[in-house]
Amino acid sequence: MIAVIGGSGMKQLPGLEVTHRQMMRTPYGEPSSPLIFGTINGHEVVFLSRHGHGHTIAPHMVNYRANIWALCTLKVRCVIAVASVGGIRANLTPGTIIIPDQIIDYTYNRRFTYFEDTDRQVVHTDFTQPYCTDTRTRLLESARQAGEKIFDGGVYAATQGPRLETIAEINRLERDGADMVGMTGMPEAILARELGLSYATIATVANYAAGRGDSQDSIPLQAVFATLEKSMVNVRNILNHLVKN
Ligand code: HPA
Repeated sequence: MIAVIGGSGMKQLPGLEVTHRQMMRTPYGEPSSPLIFGTINGHEVVFLSRHGHGHTIAPHMVNYRANIWALCTLKVRCVIAVASVGGIRANLTPGTIIIPDQIIDYTYNRRFTYFEDTDRQVVHTDFTQPYCTDTRTRLLESARQAGEKIFDGGVYAATQGPRLETIAEINRLERDGADMVGMTGMPEAILARELGLSYATIATVANYAAGRGDSQDSIPLQAVFATLEKSMVNVRNILNHLVKN
């Protein structure tokens, strides 16, 4: 079974024929929202809304450990994280879809590991390739089949939020090698890796990052909603193919 974690642009999974909903408990607390089970073209999918029903959970308050643990106990093996990002690299204009291949983590004060308060021996989890290579390939192949334009690879900078960045911060992220910036990529990716789940992100560019594009004064947030709504049609098309592959 495939799991889809939906972000700001995806509060529900269009096209999912819902069979049931289930609130779960984990040793780490409750996930962001009930898990929604259903099928897409006859294939089983479970959906989890990262920011909760009504989008009330800020990126730094998401219970990433409970979310990933819940999916793991459901015997999900493949997790597709849908995330909206700000575009730093010049060709990452609003509406672009990109499958990142690297991460830089700037978040802090988040519960970022399962190796805490346990008697289990600590494992230094390999994170050389932070996303599952096979799942990335499946996403890229599904996009090709769906006829959707998609960028292969890019560095995702995970910032703390919930505020957006300053121009100087975005300049620094760019110097560090980041192509896009978002607030939820970490610790989600490492927690999935710690539990052995195959995890990849499909990112949609919601806006130019601060100081990019035409506006030097502010990020034009009015346009974000419409941009995300449009890209979700493309994401859904890609996911429709992914479940078959
Ligand atoms: N910065 C951080 N996270 C984001 C942005 C941004 O500009 N856009 C969407 N998520």
